Amino acid sequence: MNLFNVYPLYDITPVKAKDCLIYDNKGVEYLDLYGGHGVISVGHTHPHYVNALKNQLDQIGFYSNAIQNPVQEALAKKLGALSGYGTYDLFLCSSGAEANENALKLASFHTGKARVVAFDNAFHGRTSAAVAVTDNEKINAPLNKQQQVTFLPLNDIQAVENELAKGDVCSVIIEGIQGVGGLDQGTTGFFRALEELCQKHQVVLILDEVQSGYGRSGHFFAHQYHGISPDVITTAKGMGNGFPIGGVLISPKFEAVYGMLGTTFGGNHLACAAGLAVLEIMEQEKLMENVREISAYFIEKAQQIPQVKNIKGRGLMLGLEFDFEVAALRKQLIMEGHIFTGSANNKKLLRILPPLTIQRKHIDLFFETLRGILEQAAYEPKTA
Ligand SMILES: Cc1ncc(COP(=O)(O)O)c(C=O)c1O
Repeated sequence: MNLFNVYPLYDITPVKAKDCLIYDNKGVEYLDLYGGHGVISVGHTHPHYVNALKNQLDQIGFYSNAIQNPVQEALAKKLGALSGYGTYDLFLCSSGAEANENALKLASFHTGKARVVAFDNAFHGRTSAAVAVTDNEKINAPLNKQQQVTFLPLNDIQAVENELAKGDVCSVIIEGIQGVGGLDQGTTGFFRALEELCQKHQVVLILDEVQSGYGRSGHFFAHQYHGISPDVITTAKGMGNGFPIGGVLISPKFEAVYGMLGTTFGGNHLACAAGLAVLEIMEQEKLMENVREISAYFIEKAQQIPQVKNIKGRGLMLGLEFDFEVAALRKQLIMEGHIFTGSANNKKLLRILPPLTIQRKHIDLFFETLRGILEQAAYEPKTA
């Protein structure tokens, strides 16, 4: 049997990893500035994380959601404490798309309405409703296009008001910081006005923090820079440091009804052990402080590179915008410089999503390598 060929692959085979470094089957060392799509939060194979998973596997790895599961309870308690959302409830699932799918369903159940407002360039996942609120025609099949979705420009509050006033919208979904789209984000004024408008029109505000959450922005959730409290918050990626886990944080105003949401795998013992270990490491190693410190250091260094025209994002969810398309540069960084970075819908943007444990020496290595590549003639900075 062959693998269904949907992923273009780099010819690299990682077999081992430690913190911010990855080793391939030929023993070549790579610096991980991408965390496999922003997933690696506490570093590859962190000993506390590895032990927690091994210990849990020795006890019990899985049982259904029809029994008591104290590891789920412990995870919910710790997540509430670290995120500042201790009064919210937690629904556990296994991916970012599934978290958004459940958040959208919850909003629709709660309001009895179906239309969703989303934003230009948004990415919310690939399942039915999650892909429908994703601004990318190419990944929406005719089946998905049956959903009622209106895309609006980010930061256009008047456009949002016009739509919500029509009275048929169940939710507004927005990323804390856009990831795949290219690191754009709402202003504080926009987020605050959005929260107010949603309250006024009884529309559920869903903050997709699948990529921007779990400390990546320097706060636990990126929306916490804006002083808002959304009705529903979704999370995944960094939550399990590679173990598939997602979560929906739900405000106390929603009433849970048996059977309303459900999943076989979500919240299993192993996933929760991984999730709990991640939070323990984040707390013990003060990783959000590290994010803020290293982010400032990275930005300072990036500002010294003449070919970098714009620095986007926050914390360790950053993008370097060049005045040329970066596909070739990114390939050179991986194949010659042995550094993983990411791409975005914006073809001129190089995305940086390292483990939150990253240190100054890694940033130094990145900029040294980047400078070396940029000094080649093809990357002369363009003059006006
Ligand atoms: C903001 C955001 N939401 C949702 C998703 C979907 O997550 P998953 O791939 O785990 O389904 C992603 C994935 O990149 C994302 O960046």
